[in-house]
Parts: sequence; C-alpha cells; structure tokens
Amino acid sequence: MKKIIAANWKMNMTITETKNFLKKIVPKIKNTKNDVILCLPFTNIQTLKNMAKNTKIHIGAQNFYFEDKGAYTGEISSAMLKDVGVEYVIIGHSERREIFKEDDLLINNKIKKALKEKIIPILCVGESLKERQENKTFEKIKKQLANDLLGIESSQIKKIIIAYEPIWAIGTGKTATAGEAEEVCKYIKDFIGKEYGESIKKAMKVLYGGSVNNQNAKELFKKENIDGGLIGGASLKLEFIDMVNTKY
Ligand code: PGA
Repeated sequence: MKKIIAANWKMNMTITETKNFLKKIVPKIKNTKNDVILCLPFTNIQTLKNMAKNTKIHIGAQNFYFEDKGAYTGEISSAMLKDVGVEYVIIGHSERREIFKEDDLLINNKIKKALKEKIIPILCVGESLKERQENKTFEKIKKQLANDLLGIESSQIKKIIIAYEPIWAIGTGKTATAGEAEEVCKYIKDFIGKEYGESIKKAMKVLYGGSVNNQNAKELFKKENIDGGLIGGASLKLEFIDMVNTKY
C-alpha cells in the first residue's frame, strides 16, 4: 500500500549540510511510489526546491504564522512559504506546544489559514507519558482534535493530515508498539467519522510519529489505520532512503 513518508528535520542542517545530504538521497528517492514530504528548516527550503525539481518529492515546512503580513518579528507567513514551493506544513507539533507555548486557539488559526492558502496542514496530536499512565490518552486526543479543528468545514477536514505523536515516543527511542499506535490512529479516524461523516473518515490520512526507524516502520505502516509516518531523527540518516522506498 502506498504510504505517506514525511520527514521532520526539526532544527537540523545548514545549507551546506542540506546540499550534501540531498545529493545522497534525492537520486534514490525521487521516483518513489510512496508519497514523500520533506519538512525542512526555512533556510533550507530553497535548496530543496532547486534540488528536487522534476521529482516526486514534496516540499514541507515546520511552522508558520497565520497573519498575512506585518509586525510579527521572527515569524513567517503562508505567502512566504508558498513562494518557495511549500505544499505542506506541520502544525501543532508537541515541541511547539511545549517549548513555544502554542495553544489550541493558535493552532486552530494556523490550520484555517493553511487551508485557505491551499497548504496542506499536518496536524500533530498526542499524549504525555503521564496522561498515558493515567489512561487519559483518548481524552487528550479528543480534546486536542475538538479544539484544533473547531469551526472547520467538513469539506476541508479531509485535506488535513493528522499525525498521532505520543510525546513519550518522540526522540526517545521508545516507539509505541504497532498495536498501541494503531489503536490511537483508529480512534482518530473514528472521531473524524463521528463528527464529519464516513466519507471524510475514509478520505483522510493519519500518520504515526515517534522514534520511527527503518527497523520498526514496516510493522507500524502495515496497520490498517496508519497511513504513514512523520519521521524525525531517522529522516536525517541514510536509512531514510529505505524507509521511503519500502513497499508497505
Ligand atoms: P522522532 O521525531 O522520529 O525523532 O521521534 C518525530 C517527530 O517529532 O516528528
């Protein structure tokens, strides 16, 4: 089955490092049958655009601000992203929620703006270790989805990619088991089905993220409700080539 393999480079790689790494991976992944999206730091996106020309590689960013322009020091707009070829943007990653104190209202505004500007949002949701231990995983996911998707029309919902990223699995080497990941991805799809209808549930894509690597990807991505992965650490390594080219 065709899967979405999305890379989240986070705050890694200079332009020189990006050129060197892309030189190694682009020729090997450019004709992949999976959908590959590379979400790079802003300063590297132009380099990706140049090096991924005429390939199937999609260009993504990791953040933006929802206002059109103006006095928002340090921020970047959707128009600026589109100008460098960005088609996808990660919104509400747990690192942005936790370190940069992004709340559901801000995330909701970003999703609405991205949809309006025809940039596909990759919305991240997920529970902390404490929430999982207290059996509050579904409660947390439901609350995040309800708040982050507030006021968005059904017809728009299916365009959003949702990534289930348990906070305890991000960058820790502790992956959710395929069963745990599948259970929550299914919960997300069922929630969407209940709120927006079966056809939207069928059309939408849900990814798993959190310490995915070339070893565990196959088991995770063969699950029925996992449509691919959002990959951090392993997307900075050459094993990413195999992850993109594997037939799941
Ligand atoms: P990781 O990051 O693969 O390094 O755990 C995933 C993510 O945060 O998107």
